[in-house]
Amino acid sequence: MFWIFFVLLIFSTSDCILIDQITSTSSSSSSTSSSSTSSSTTSTTTSSSSSTSSSSTTTAVPGWTITGSMNAAREYHTASTLANGSVLVAGGIGSPGSLNNAELYNPLTGIWTTTGNMSSVRAYHIASILANGNVLVTGGQGSSGFLNSAELYNPSTGTWTTTGNMSFVRAYHTASILANGNVLVAGGLGSTGYLNSAELYNPSTGTWTTTGNMNATRYEHIASILANGYVLVAGGQGSSGLLSSTELYSPSTGTWITTGNMNLTRYYHTVSILTNGSVLVAGGSGSAGSPNSAELYNLLTGTWTTTRNMSFVRAYHTASTLANGSVLVTGGYGSTGSLNSAELY
Ligand SMILES: *[C@@H]1O[C@H](CO)[C@@H](O)[C@H](O)[C@H]1NC(C)=O
Ligand SMILES: *[C@@H]1O[C@H](CO)[C@@H](O)[C@H](O)[C@H]1NC(C)=O
Ligand SMILES: *[C@@H]1O[C@H](CO)[C@@H](O)[C@H](O)[C@H]1NC(C)=O
Ligand SMILES: *[C@@H]1O[C@H](CO)[C@@H](O)[C@H](O)[C@H]1NC(C)=O
Ligand SMILES: *[C@@H]1O[C@H](CO)[C@@H](O)[C@H](O)[C@H]1NC(C)=O
Ligand SMILES: *[C@@H]1O[C@H](CO)[C@@H](O)[C@H](O)[C@H]1NC(C)=O
Ligand SMILES: *[C@@H]1O[C@H](CO)[C@@H](O)[C@H](O)[C@H]1NC(C)=O
Ligand SMILES: *[C@@H]1O[C@H](CO)[C@@H](O)[C@H](O)[C@H]1NC(C)=O
Repeated sequence: MFWIFFVLLIFSTSDCILIDQITSTSSSSSSTSSSSTSSSTTSTTTSSSSSTSSSSTTTAVPGWTITGSMNAAREYHTASTLANGSVLVAGGIGSPGSLNNAELYNPLTGIWTTTGNMSSVRAYHIASILANGNVLVTGGQGSSGFLNSAELYNPSTGTWTTTGNMSFVRAYHTASILANGNVLVAGGLGSTGYLNSAELYNPSTGTWTTTGNMNATRYEHIASILANGYVLVAGGQGSSGLLSSTELYSPSTGTWITTGNMNLTRYYHTVSILTNGSVLVAGGSGSAGSPNSAELYNLLTGTWTTTRNMSFVRAYHTASTLANGSVLVTGGYGSTGSLNSAELY
């Protein structure tokens, strides 16, 4: 497993991009909403400041503005938009090593304030927003290896409490909130290597139960909740190499069924749900290098079709669904290094 971290470090010519990537894998649903919420916050701020200087109709100017700095430098952390609009960042790796601290961004003031510490340092973990508004963090790498522990952040008290342990230590896994509120955690890297195991967290009991195994071991895969309630996992790396395979989890049976293969093997790719329910997967790395291609999964046929290419090859990028249904793809690692370009699907 050490070479994997080595490869990650080689790739980490831009920490920001990796941060974005890790954040976007944290939970496809919550990170998509967190990215779109934070970008709409930026434009709200821009338009309100311009409307004070001009009484004419104003529109937000697209672009990036610097906002408050976090109290701690960090990478490989998570970011979650809370119900009241503040953004919680937690853990990661900073200059003193792995972090247990967390801070809140207030979009009204642009200021970060420290909040409760997690009980464990963790990086490469996943954060999921539960239906009750609490934030569940799972697994990741702690001070002495990968973690099976999980903890809950309560936004109204600003404190963390430990909750049930997973059956397996894991990092680089995925977490998906099912329609019934349970959290499905799948795959990742564990103490014995790549995992095919999956487990369910029940927020009302605070306990985990194992559920069906995926057919393939996978890490650095993506997971997405489909309009029909199934969870789609796609690609990643596993004990049999780079994966183009994809599988569906049925919450009602607790089992996985394999579905169509993607055209390419992909890891460090992104996933987005289009307004018509189709699933867009874009970029990443794979056996043919980093592709600029994108593919669409059709729920009804269970098949993937290649769609328009992106203008750039990208891995470690992010994808966020805008309110109008377009998908915004940002940055990533391209054929000439880190990218500042962004494009819309
Ligand atoms: C968090 O932990 C740090 C040391 O790691 C400590 O200095 C700080 O006071 C703690 N913060 C809280 C809110 O407990
Ligand atoms: C959201 O709630 C937290 C915890 O109570 C608080 O610290 C923060 O200021 C709130 N954010 C906003 C935008 O009101
Ligand atoms: C979780 O596991 C750790 C050891 O890995 C143990 O110290 C802790 O008590 C466990 N927590 C629960 C809630 O079982
Ligand atoms: C499960 O994965 C193996 C490769 O590990 C593959 O040969 C097999 O076809 C897969 N099973 C199904 C049902 O796709
Ligand atoms: C992948 O897509 C390319 C171009 O669309 C096509 O030529 C090729 O046959 C496809 N490969 C597979 C395995 O579907
Ligand atoms: C959904 O929309 C995409 C992009 O417009 C299109 O390519 C795809 O075929 C549509 N899917 C279905 C199932 O209609
Ligand atoms: C997408 O780009 C690949 C090369 O990366 C090329 O082979 C393929 O023809 C392109 N597909 C389309 C639809 O332009
Ligand atoms: C969504 O908004 C973006 C930015 O304004 C625009 O470029 C894009 O064309 C819009 N998409 C749709 C489907 O209207």
